[in-house]
Formats: sequence, C-alpha cells, structure tokens
Amino acid sequence: MRRFEIPYLSQVILIVGIFVSVSLAVCVVTSQNNLLSSSSFQWTWMSSAVTPSSSSSPSSINGLRRKTKVFNVTYISPRVKKGEYVKLDELEEGLSRARALIKLAAAAAAQNQNQSSPYEDPEYVPHGDLYQNARVFHRSYLLMEKLFKIFVYEEGELPLFHNGPCKNIYSMEGFFINFMETDKRFRTRDPDSAHVYFLPFSVVMILQYLFHPIIRDKYVLGRTISDYVRIISERYPYWNRSLGADHVMLSCHDWGPRATWYVPELYFNSIRVLCNANTSERFNPRKDASFPEINHVTGEISGLIGGNLRFNSSILAFFAGNVHGRIRPALLQHWKEKDEDVRVYEKLPEGIDYKEMMQKSKYCICPSGWEVASPRIVEAIYAECVPVLISQHYILPFSDVINWDSFSIQITPSLWQQALVLTELC
Ligand SMILES: *[C@@H]1O[C@H](CO)[C@@H](O)[C@H](O)[C@H]1NC(C)=O
Ligand SMILES: *[C@@H]1O[C@H](CO)[C@@H](O)[C@H](O)[C@H]1NC(C)=O
Ligand SMILES: *[C@@H]1O[C@H](CO)[C@@H](O)[C@H](O)[C@H]1NC(C)=O
Ligand SMILES: *[C@@H]1O[C@H](CO)[C@@H](O)[C@H](O)[C@H]1NC(C)=O
Ligand SMILES: *[C@@H]1O[C@H](CO)[C@@H](O)[C@H](O)[C@H]1NC(C)=O
Repeated sequence: MRRFEIPYLSQVILIVGIFVSVSLAVCVVTSQNNLLSSSSFQWTWMSSAVTPSSSSSPSSINGLRRKTKVFNVTYISPRVKKGEYVKLDELEEGLSRARALIKLAAAAAAQNQNQSSPYEDPEYVPHGDLYQNARVFHRSYLLMEKLFKIFVYEEGELPLFHNGPCKNIYSMEGFFINFMETDKRFRTRDPDSAHVYFLPFSVVMILQYLFHPIIRDKYVLGRTISDYVRIISERYPYWNRSLGADHVMLSCHDWGPRATWYVPELYFNSIRVLCNANTSERFNPRKDASFPEINHVTGEISGLIGGNLRFNSSILAFFAGNVHGRIRPALLQHWKEKDEDVRVYEKLPEGIDYKEMMQKSKYCICPSGWEVASPRIVEAIYAECVPVLISQHYILPFSDVINWDSFSIQITPSLWQQALVLTELC
C-alpha cells in the first residue's frame, strides 16, 4: 500500500499541544492549592468524612439523606439588579460586527485575496487544508482574542465545583475548568460584559464524591446540577434572560450528556461542551461543542509527540483495546492476532509497548467503545499515525473548524462490516 502522506498532522499536533500545555500549566498551578491534586479515579464514597449539613442551605444536596458529605457553598450577593441589562445592546452590536468581519474574511478567501484589516495578523497568512476555511478560522480566532469574554460563576465550592481531574481519561474536564478558574485573558469579573456564562461544575467530581457504587443513584447529578442552576438563576438575571442559551458547561465524563437531562434549559438551550458527543444522545452540533478526550495517565505531557516519521515503520494498522460496545467485537473477531500487517490485540503481549506500536504504525484504528469518543484518536495524532475512525453518531472535536478528512479516515460501521466480509472472502 502506498505510504500515506500526512502533511497536516504536525499542525494538528501543534494545536492540540498548545491547548494541552496551556491548560496543563494551569492544572499544575491550581492543584497546588487544592486538596484533590492527587485524585485517583476510583469511585470514592466519603461516608467517613461527614460534616454537618445545614438544611436551610439552599444548595445542600437535597434528598441525600444518607451519610453524605455535604459541601458548604459560599454565597455571593447579586452584583446586578434585576432588569439591568445596560451593556446587552453593546455586546450584541460587537457580535454583529464580528460576524460581519468573519463574513468578509470568508468572501476574501473565496476570491483568494489578501485583505488589510485591523483584525488581521500582518505577519501570518493562514493556509492549509487542515482547516475548513483557514482564513475564516484565523479571523474568528483573532476576534475571539480581542473581544470574547466569559463570566465564571463563583458560586459552588471545592471539590465539586471550580475543579476537576487533571489526570487519566477525564483529564480534559479538569484542564478546562482549571483553565477557566485562572484565566485572565478571557475571563471577566463583570457579568454584564460577558458573552457567555460558565457553569463550573465537574461531573467527574460530583460522581466521585456523591455517587454510590452499589446504590448507583444517578440522580445525584440531577440534584446537584438543578440545585446549582436554581441558585444562579435566582441570584443573577442572566439565566432567565436567555433561558440558559448563553451558558456553557463542559464535561468529559461518559455521563456528561446525562448530567444535563435534569434541567431542560441546560439540555436544550445551553452550550454543552462534551467529549461524549453522540448525536443519538441528542448532542446538537448547532449549539453544542465536541471536545477531544485525552488520557493523561500521569498528568505529565512531555514526550507525547513524535511518531512513525522517526521509524521505518513496518506495521500497516494497529489496534489494542478491550471489546467494548458494538463495533469492536467484529474488529477483534476478524483480525485479532491473525495478521502481520494489521496488528489487532485485545491485550498487548508482554514486552510490546502500546505507544511505540502506535508510533510505528501507519494507520491507527480508533473504533468507538462504550461511548463514541476514544482517547486513541488524540494518541494516534500524537504518534503521527493516521487515525482510522470507526464510529456512528460521533461529531468529531472542533469539526466546525478542522477538516478531519484531510488527516484521518472515517468509516461507518456498516462499511466496515462490508469490508470485513470482503476480506473474509479473499
Ligand atoms: C458555611 O460557610 C459560612 C460562611 O463562611 C459559615 O458561616 C458557616 O459556618 C459554614 N457552615 C458549615 C456547615 O461549614
Ligand atoms: C497575500 O500575501 C502574501 C504574504 O504577504 C503573499 O505571499 C501573497 O502573494 C498575497 N496574495 C495575493 C493574492 O495578493
Ligand atoms: C428566574 O426565574 C425563576 C423561576 O421562574 C425565579 O424563581 C427566579 O426568581 C428568577 N430569577 C430572577 C433573578 O428573577
Ligand atoms: C530507515 O531506512 C533507511 C533506508 O532504508 C536507513 O538508511 C535508515 O537508517 C533507517 N532508519 C532506522 C531508524 O532504522
Ligand atoms: C450513542 O447513543 C445511542 C443512544 O443512546 C446509543 O445507543 C449508542 O450506543 C451510543 N453510541 C456509542 C458508540 O456509545
């Protein structure tokens, strides 16, 4: 087979790399001040750590009658009086100007013209198939840097709020939340001048502290999050003003979508940034955003990048992983340890290094497991291995900006099945 050219992978790596290093730096800084820096992700049931709960507290987790740790919540009086939307027109105007400028960039790109605009970086002309439209993305990015403001609600206390895991499979949740906590560039303390409002809860943390592995009451998510939304909607006018449409939540947990079920406005109106971006679970790409799942086992990010360009790779395709979900059984049934070129394992044999296998391979098979997202996709990109995505109903991360077809192969499960049948016949 012809060697696959991967001219854009390095750019993807750069984007992911920059994002991760910025957020990791933040994670390290914030976790020094926080009790959960070394959190492991076994479910923790805090029955021994009981603190008195104040039943009058509107944010105590109502209905949790078991011996549960209840977290005190700091109250902040509203800074804005009801009905006081002084800056809203100004914000809307700024946004329309930005939209117009982005449209101009699109028009210029269509005619392949250079534009001089105060919103252009004179030293850089965006290009590359990696993007859906490099100039539009660049313009929009510069505008974001100039204009975009996020307000982070201060309500809610550690460890369920303002904090998240910086390690393992859900690490992106922690990276992002911690980034929002410490950010100075985009975060505004003046809610009136914000474009969006961030709800700083961590689904992973809520489950880690409040979800009982035996009782398995998933409604802890509902209680915690609807309580939180009730508090901020009573205390500030912004939630009611837009019915949540300018509010953002983020989760990398498989139950991220479920966490938003319990508040209809959050589910249907708000911007949900999810790793589990399954359109069959009502992920709505018109308002929601898909976020990459990255498994940072140790929280360490150096030495992740680099791949088959360094090796004289001999392996055509590689996969190693458990038989989860509907797609993987067929993969393993047909290929498991049967082929020299297509290396498919359920469990890697002793002495074979997972990362090195990826780096040596040309194609890395990334089938959906229990959930649509898989950390393999980013691992393949880090390893400079072309991701072969086999999934259904999955909206790929940043796919409004990045042209995934330029550096990955996407196969639907039915096509995959047909291909497998064909290989059987041969
Ligand atoms: C909760 O915080 C308030 C304000 O800091 C404090 O007065 C109160 O005693 C705290 N309650 C508990 C149960 O820790
Ligand atoms: C646009 O600007 C770049 C760099 O300044 C230059 O290389 C390119 O030729 C210009 N293109 C057009 C169509 O003027
Ligand atoms: C927002 O609406 C809810 C329910 O309709 C109400 O209880 C709350 O007081 C309202 N919040 C504000 C700030 O008016
Ligand atoms: C890869 O192959 C080339 C040419 O066959 C050889 O010169 C080079 O040393 C090899 N590199 C490695 C890392 O084996
Ligand atoms: C996507 O969601 C649907 C509906 O809940 C579910 O049946 C399917 O298994 C999900 N896909 C994956 C890969 O988990």
